[in-house]
Amino acid sequence: ELRGVVAMDGPSGTGKSTVARGLARALGAGYLDTGAMYRVVTLAVLRAGVDPADSAAVLRVAEGVDLGIGTDPGGSAVLLGGEPVDAEIRGPEVTAAVSAVSAVAGVRDLLVSRQRRIIGESRATLGGIVVEGRDIGTVVAPEAPLKVYLTASADARAARRTAQDSAEGRVSTVDATKADVQRRDTFDSTRAVSPLRPAVDAVEVDTTDLGIDAVLAQLLEIVRERG
Ligand code: C5P
Repeated sequence: ELRGVVAMDGPSGTGKSTVARGLARALGAGYLDTGAMYRVVTLAVLRAGVDPADSAAVLRVAEGVDLGIGTDPGGSAVLLGGEPVDAEIRGPEVTAAVSAVSAVAGVRDLLVSRQRRIIGESRATLGGIVVEGRDIGTVVAPEAPLKVYLTASADARAARRTAQDSAEGRVSTVDATKADVQRRDTFDSTRAVSPLRPAVDAVEVDTTDLGIDAVLAQLLEIVRERG
């Protein structure tokens, strides 16, 4: 059983979601996808016809968003105003705009406090939670006893993202996906607030040549060792 928080950070296409979910299942812990939260706010911004580059307007939308998210690693719907939006938040429009929205400091303040609340509830009810994102080890839960930072080569990440797109019915090419993944990672790593970077005490795992099962086995071993 997991006591506390596993913080799982890294850029897109490293297998982060699959690994985080699998780890939560194996440990009987909760699971929180913080990227989905930034994506829901972005969808609300786009639906409101607001320019994602207009920080003040973006923040006004974020303050009024009715966002629903669960912590079941088996999957629970992500809701905007009660409507399931799981498919829509993974689409190209949201993906193109999410980095701009998540760079707004006020948006991060809102979501980070919500994330901390969810983490507190999960620790009380389930004992622990695996939380994935970009700033979990550095900002959201710096007290987490286990911080993991997943990396992989740009080619491996683009290939994974393209395979995932096609499995979920979205049309994309490896080249276009590689460009998108690199654009988003550069933006996320160089933004002023909570840039994507490993916590000083994070365990770094390069997943370029590792299957999900191997990554999971490695992390389960670390959780067991640390008791
Ligand atoms: O993980 P996912 O690819 O769904 O995240 C989408 C975007 O949300 C990221 O590119 C990043 O801009 C933002 N994000 C963030 N902080 C997090 C999680 C996601 O800024 N903790």
